[in-house]
Amino acid sequence: MSESPESPMSPGPAAAVARTQAARAAELDAAGPLATTRDRFVLDDDTVYLDGNSLGALPRSVPGRIAEVIHHEWGELRIRSWTEAGWWTAPERIGEKIAPLIGAAPGQVVVGDSTSVNVFKAVTGGIRMAGKGCTEILVDATTFPTDGYVARSAARMAGLAVRPVEPARIADEVTERTALALVNHVDYRTGELNDMAAITSALHTAGALAVWDLCHSAGALPVALDACGVDLAVGCTYKYLNGGPGSPAYLYLRTGLQDQFESPLPGWNSHADPFGMDPGYTPADGILRGRVGTPDILSLLALEAALEAWEGVAIEDVRAKSLALSDFFLECVAAYAPAGRVRSVTPADHRRRGSQVSLACVPDPSAPVEEGGTPVAGRVMAELIRRGVVGDFRHPDVLRFGFTPLYTTFADAERAAWVLGEVLRDPATTGPGSGSGPALGGAAG
Ligand SMILES: Cc1ncc(COP(=O)(O)O)c(C=O)c1O
Repeated sequence: MSESPESPMSPGPAAAVARTQAARAAELDAAGPLATTRDRFVLDDDTVYLDGNSLGALPRSVPGRIAEVIHHEWGELRIRSWTEAGWWTAPERIGEKIAPLIGAAPGQVVVGDSTSVNVFKAVTGGIRMAGKGCTEILVDATTFPTDGYVARSAARMAGLAVRPVEPARIADEVTERTALALVNHVDYRTGELNDMAAITSALHTAGALAVWDLCHSAGALPVALDACGVDLAVGCTYKYLNGGPGSPAYLYLRTGLQDQFESPLPGWNSHADPFGMDPGYTPADGILRGRVGTPDILSLLALEAALEAWEGVAIEDVRAKSLALSDFFLECVAAYAPAGRVRSVTPADHRRRGSQVSLACVPDPSAPVEEGGTPVAGRVMAELIRRGVVGDFRHPDVLRFGFTPLYTTFADAERAAWVLGEVLRDPATTGPGSGSGPALGGAAG
């Protein structure tokens, strides 16, 4: 990041830059198709919330709907709600509401269970559909850990090897012995966007299936599952889809594969006749095969209400604002942060950038090296949060700032960069002897 000539707090050129940036932020916030969508969320102006890539903010549509579900549907209708209030069909109904956001035609998305469980369904189901001679699966070498753990277990059950491969190398590494590759669309740590079309096409050319994890892309940028020919995909709903803590994940299963999909978790909700209580298992048709057991109705219906925040929103507008926000933030960090103390590990190229900026903290060369203690990035993030700027910290040195275009403002981006500059200059946080403070990270990656 370039050097600012003086503290942004002092009068002079740096303060003038800050005034210009603040004025630009105000102008940008007043314009554009998403200028008013922030009103759809419960947020306070004292906090800059840049952690929607971990837990999305609360949509205003949720509390009233959940109160209604509890008081009327559960409290009064009780068991009648499974049919009369549409509880039974909620997993596929809500799947249809997510489908347009991930480029899926109807009948291919079902909601339920955690992302980890859906990774297991997708990878094991994919292995079962793969050709007989396959001996391995590929897993994104930079994957969010749960995908790797689950994929390794699924491969072991099928007697296949697991080969970690960087997403950019998959096209070169895939062979005719590869059953599938499990790839993250956006890297949770760096915010790098992987090329879904090219990687999927390379996998198909080699006869392998493409399984994508959309946790960090759905709701933040256009996802084109059908157009890219993706076979299976999973994603969570508590980040950019704002479904709430622990809200259920989803499974995408391409129409053309649904007849062959054998669920590794063939619970009664995926049976062709769930209430027939047949001791033998006959799978339901279509995407219903992705269901397992009784759906978590309160979380599902909170998610359904949360999805109302997308009414009238074009995902292309979300993408345009996301890139503008992260560009603007990087510009402000370059202007306000002391030289050489943070380095962006998020690609500058828009085609390779998701909706977050990850800054690696570079230790202050003038400070003595300390053994143990809290890493400098952990201390910086704890101090940012104390000063009202909420991002998160990922080991060992990354500060993550998520941009959620439905509610993040340009003023947020400018203030976050300003406070970051102040914290990085503050010897109490980054100087010698400061290493015993708390380090904060979000609960979800
Ligand atoms: C990319 C990615 N995959 C999987 C998961 C795990 O999701 P879950 O806790 O819902 O199983 C996360 C969690 O943040 C994630 O970021």
